[in-house]
Amino acid sequence: MRLTVIGTGYVGTVHAACMADIGHEVLGIDIDAERVAALSAGRSPVHEAGLDELLARHVASGRLRFTTSLAEGADFARTHFVCVGTPQRPDSKAADLRYVDAVVDGLVPHLRPGSLVVGKSTVPVGTTARLTRRLAEAAPGCEIAWNPEFLREGSAVHDTMHPERLVVGVSSERADAVLRSVYRPMLGAGVPYFGTDPATAELVKVAANSFLATKISFINAMSEVCEAAGADAMLLARAVGADSRVGPLFLEPGLGFGGSCFPKDIRAFAARAEELGAGEAVVFLHEVDRINTRQRTRTVDLARRLLGGSFTGRRVGVLGAAFKPGSDDVRDSPALAVAAAVQEQGAAVRVHDPEALDNARTAYPGLGYAFDVPKACEDADLVLHLTPWPEYQHLDPAALAAVVHRPLLLDARNALDAPAWREGGWTVHALGRTPLA
Ligand code: NAD
Ligand code: UGA
Repeated sequence: MRLTVIGTGYVGTVHAACMADIGHEVLGIDIDAERVAALSAGRSPVHEAGLDELLARHVASGRLRFTTSLAEGADFARTHFVCVGTPQRPDSKAADLRYVDAVVDGLVPHLRPGSLVVGKSTVPVGTTARLTRRLAEAAPGCEIAWNPEFLREGSAVHDTMHPERLVVGVSSERADAVLRSVYRPMLGAGVPYFGTDPATAELVKVAANSFLATKISFINAMSEVCEAAGADAMLLARAVGADSRVGPLFLEPGLGFGGSCFPKDIRAFAARAEELGAGEAVVFLHEVDRINTRQRTRTVDLARRLLGGSFTGRRVGVLGAAFKPGSDDVRDSPALAVAAAVQEQGAAVRVHDPEALDNARTAYPGLGYAFDVPKACEDADLVLHLTPWPEYQHLDPAALAAVVHRPLLLDARNALDAPAWREGGWTVHALGRTPLA
C-alpha cells in the first residue's frame, strides 16, 4: 500500500520506517525542512535502537521518501497517518491541538476522494468527532479514524514491529478494512486487534498512560512512607509486584516519570474530563501528578541534606540527562529538572549522558556538561544517579572513587548495585531507603 506519515518526530519517523519495513511505500512529511533533508539522507532525527538501520535500508531502496509538501502527500496516497505533537497548552493543562488542526486544514484541500486520515497522536476524547465534521464540509467522501500509538521511547522500533495490541477507532467498515490491510503482518502474527468507535480508541490511549503513571506514583508514595518508617521501598515494590494481579513492571520507586507524554497526558485527560462534566472521576490524577513532582523536590532535599544542609560551594556530578534510558529525549526530564534545581541552589553541576548531551545543552544551556563519567564526577562532593542507563551499572566504583572529592552517592533510581559501590569505597544513599528526616 501507499501511505503518508505526517509529522516525523519520535512517533512518525519510527512509524514511517516500520511501515516501509513491512512492505508499504511510504512518504514522510514534516514542516521542518532540515529534518526532511536529514531523513532523506537516511539520518534519524532521534536516537532509537535499530532506527538508523531501517531508515538507511528503506531510503536506499526507494520505499521510503520524505517531503515538506502536504499536497504531494495527498497526491501520493489515500491513507495518511497524522503523528504531529500534542503538547500541553501554554495557558492551561489541556492539550494543544494546533498542530493536528494545521495538518488537517493543510491536507483537506488536496485530498483525493475516498481518502482516509488516521490520527496516531494522543488527543482528547472527541477530537475525531470534531475533525470528522470539518472533513464532511471540506472533503466529502473522506474519513478520519483514530489509531493511537503505544510505543515506548528506547524500544520504539521493537514496539512498532511487535505491538502488544492495535487499537483502531473507526466509523465505517471500509476504514476498518484499510487499517487491517496496513497492519496485516502484525495481525498475521497474532497481535490482538481492538476495533472500536473513535471515542473509545482515543480514551484507551489516555486511560493506559494514566494507569501506568498512577502505578509509578503509587509506588513512589509508598517509598515516601517507607522513608518515614525506616522501611525498604525496593523490597516492598518487589513483594507487592510479585502478586500476578499487580505485576512487577512500572513499580520501580525513584525519581518518577517525565518525558513528553505521561505528564502532559494525565493533565490533558483531567482537563478534558472536566470539560465533559466528569472531572470528579479522575481527580486522583492531580495527586498522581503532585506525587510525581514531589519526587524531584524530595531528591533535591535529600541531596542537600547529604551535603550538610547547603549546596553552596559544592560540586555535584550528575549521571543522566535523558528522561529515561535508551532515549536522547530530554522533554520534561526529571534528571535535568533536579540538576537545574541543585545548580540554582548554589552547587557547580556537571552532567553526563551517553546520548542526550546535545538535547540537554539546548534545553538547559546554563548547566555544566561532560563527555565522560569521570569528567562529570571530577572533584565532586556528591554524585547523583538520575537516569538509569545500563552503562552506569557497569561503572567501576573504586576507579570513580579515586576521581571524586568525596565518594558519596545518591541513587535516585534504585538501579545501582549498592553493596558493590560500598565495597568500592562509597557511602550510598537511595531514594525510598534513606530516611529524609
Ligand atoms: P515530536 O515533537 O517528536 O514530533 C512532531 C513532529 O511533527 C515534528 O517533527 C514537527 O516538526 C512535526 N510537525 C509539526 N507541525 C507539523 C505540520 N503542520 N505538518 C507536518 N509536520 C508537522 O512528537 P512525538 O513525540 O513523535 O509525538 C507525536 C504524538 O504522538 C503526540 O501526540 C504524542 O503524545 C504521541 N505519542 C508519543 C509517543 C512518544 O514516545 N514520543 C508515544 C506514543 C504517542
Ligand atoms: C510511555 C508509555 O509507556 C508508552 O506506552 C506510551 O506510548 C508513551 O508513554 C506515550 O504515550 O508517549 P515513554 O514515555 O516512552 O512511554 O517511556 P516509559 O518507559 O513509559 O517511561 C516513562 C517515564 O516513567 C520515564 O521517565 C521513566 O523513567 C519513568 N518510570 C517508568 C518510572 O519512574 N518508574 C517505573 O517503574 C517505570
